[in-house]
Amino acid sequence: MTNTQQTPGSLMRAVRFESFGGPSVLTVADVPVPEPEAGQITVDVTHAGVNFAEVMFRRGQFPVGLPHHPGLEAVGTVRAVGDGVTGFRAGERVAALTLGGGGNAEVVAVGAEHAVRLDGPLAGLDGALAAGALCNVTTALGVLTSAGHLAEGESVVVLAAAGGVGTAAAQLARTLGAGTVIGVTSSPAKAEYARGFGYDSVVSYEDLEREVAERTGGAGADLVLDSVGGAFRSSVTGLLAAFGRHVIFGNAAAEDVTFEGNHPWYTNSSLVGYNLGGVAGRAPGLLRSHLERALAEVAAKTVRVDVRVLPLKDVAHAHELLETRASTGKYVLDVRA
Ligand SMILES: NC(=O)c1ccc[n+]([C@@H]2O[C@H](COP(=O)([O-])OP(=O)(O)OC[C@H]3O[C@@H](n4cnc5c(N)ncnc54)[C@H](OP(=O)(O)O)[C@@H]3O)[C@@H](O)[C@H]2O)c1
Repeated sequence: MTNTQQTPGSLMRAVRFESFGGPSVLTVADVPVPEPEAGQITVDVTHAGVNFAEVMFRRGQFPVGLPHHPGLEAVGTVRAVGDGVTGFRAGERVAALTLGGGGNAEVVAVGAEHAVRLDGPLAGLDGALAAGALCNVTTALGVLTSAGHLAEGESVVVLAAAGGVGTAAAQLARTLGAGTVIGVTSSPAKAEYARGFGYDSVVSYEDLEREVAERTGGAGADLVLDSVGGAFRSSVTGLLAAFGRHVIFGNAAAEDVTFEGNHPWYTNSSLVGYNLGGVAGRAPGLLRSHLERALAEVAAKTVRVDVRVLPLKDVAHAHELLETRASTGKYVLDVRA
């Protein structure tokens, strides 16, 4: 192992929760600095994104071991390189998916396969923007392509259109050749915000059926990106064109519905899922290519990530905004502040 700062036993600040619950269970604690295991690097973090998935972990919707250190993405400089790792040197700028958690901290250990050097065309990429791109833009690419199989000219509906993934999905859908792109939000203010990201129209959940019918000449949507779940999920099949795809990749409502096995047969539709962690485990090469493309799109300004930067200590506030549907765009923590 090579290390820039050999300080065994030293402490760092990290976000942590010791029980499941509301945002107030989040604390910033002093914990030991991690050392890289074989195949890992450690990163001195400057910026760390906040994701809705971390809200779900915090409230116990996806049970994780306690205490848990949240944070699925981080940007900073390589601190130390574990055994067997090639291609990284201490001091290099990197952006990394930290899918095991721990990204909301001053130092995080991460598998080298999930880290990308911010050099070459990525050298000018701002740390907060890179942190904002890692999970959201990678996921938006995955749901549109590998899960949704978006084809040229097809129509796309994006639920939670003003959010981190939603704003990226609208822009990428355009880049990938989509026809009509319709966004859905829970408030007029969020709809107004989302309109800045390339949607043809943004409507309420109540008005979506009429809007899809009008915009597709009654044919229905080819793709619906559904991270919302809840009762609305049952109505999605009714929005789809023949052989349309209902892409399920989240459950913000924390309430699911049941489909019968015969459902796709009876309705000429597909239910298809996307899970970043699952892709990391079962299709690592695909994840890597989406991760690299996501960062490249943001560096090239072909995808705009609207980032609000908060100090690390305000992590609970970011969770609260996400959980109460008061958020737009992406929240990123400045870990040095
Ligand atoms: N499968 C994966 O690998 C993967 C990876 C990344 C993200 N995701 C999922 O993608 C979604 C977007 O993630 P994000 O971090 O960018 O979050 P986000 O979209 O910025 O925030 C979540 C949004 O979900 C909508 N929502 C609908 N019902 C809700 C409810 N009952 N409570 C709270 N929010 C509700 C809200 O938008 P409106 O108020 O406009 O409806 C809210 O703004 C999340 O559901 C997340 O879990 C999945």
